[in-house]
Amino acid sequence: MAQEPNRNTSLLHAGYHHPLHRTWQAGQPITPNMLMYPIFVTDNDDVEEKIDTLPGQSRWGINLLVDFLTPLVANGLKSVIIFGVPVNIQKDAVGSAADDSNTPTIRALHVLRKAFPDLLLACDVCLCPYTSHGHCGVLRDDGTIDNRASVKRLVDISMAYARNGCQMISPSDMMDGRIKGIKDALIQEGIAHKVSLMSYSAKFASNFYGPFRDACHSTPGSGDRKCYQLPHQARGLARRALVRDMGEGADVLMVKPGTPYLDILRDAREIAPDYPLSVYQVSGEYAMIWHAAKAGVFDLKAGVMESMDGFVRAGANFIITYYTPKILEWIKDDRS
Ligand code: PBG
Ligand code: ZN
Repeated sequence: MAQEPNRNTSLLHAGYHHPLHRTWQAGQPITPNMLMYPIFVTDNDDVEEKIDTLPGQSRWGINLLVDFLTPLVANGLKSVIIFGVPVNIQKDAVGSAADDSNTPTIRALHVLRKAFPDLLLACDVCLCPYTSHGHCGVLRDDGTIDNRASVKRLVDISMAYARNGCQMISPSDMMDGRIKGIKDALIQEGIAHKVSLMSYSAKFASNFYGPFRDACHSTPGSGDRKCYQLPHQARGLARRALVRDMGEGADVLMVKPGTPYLDILRDAREIAPDYPLSVYQVSGEYAMIWHAAKAGVFDLKAGVMESMDGFVRAGANFIITYYTPKILEWIKDDRS
């Protein structure tokens, strides 16, 4: 039977012709609550070291941190994830400097808590910036990962950060069983009700981490991370890692990197419908978009905001991105 012309369901344009209509077709717009800003904190207290491979980003000395973040907090910044990048340390096989009371992460926790009482302070937990070999765990004599020893170190570091005010422990190392280890320790300490655990669950061995390793001086001295970070094509392993980490007590799950793994993000949303889900738009994605805009491929704001909408559409509740300061500016201007 022929369709009546006025019922023609092939006509879509009218439903998004007017700008207001378009907002009705959209998901959630990006708000400041949905942005977490990664910050690099060094132990050269009074310097800002620009990171060449991450244009517009710097390693910050403790004494410059508050002035740097004050305008961002005024623009609505709600959370940061702290990466310690000490340069004046002795690196060793087990990353002893990571939980030294003077380590930049712990000092930053104190400074930021005092200056910004409402800012959520998350900490990346990993060994790679602190180990002589640059790997994310403790190694055996044959160069493979000693998982048990690695988890023990990660637990100790996590507890040091939690005791000093970290509100969200975020282990990025990809050792087996670290979520359970850290959760158990938080329970033991009596702080599991107020310190959350975000697992970098679906973290892939990616080519997009290059600028970050530059920023953190954390490139492995030899070998690669393919025996602990997930293989690119391993959708199944990612699903298993997400399920495992839920079972071990993660409060928040993460997929990383973002853009090449949007399918995994959608999988995570479906596997874990009741969990907050984050996505890490990593250093290589940041740099790629920046260079593309610079080369005239697109306007920076338009390109970045489209990538954000992709993450939210795929299922992310929040996004860890180096573009946070810029996005806060842009969405403020859009509203005013
Ligand atoms: C270290 C760590 C990495 C990132 C976050 N934590 C790099 C890696 O695993 O080699 C990547 C972040 C980025 O590229 O922006 N465990
Ligand atoms: Zn690491």
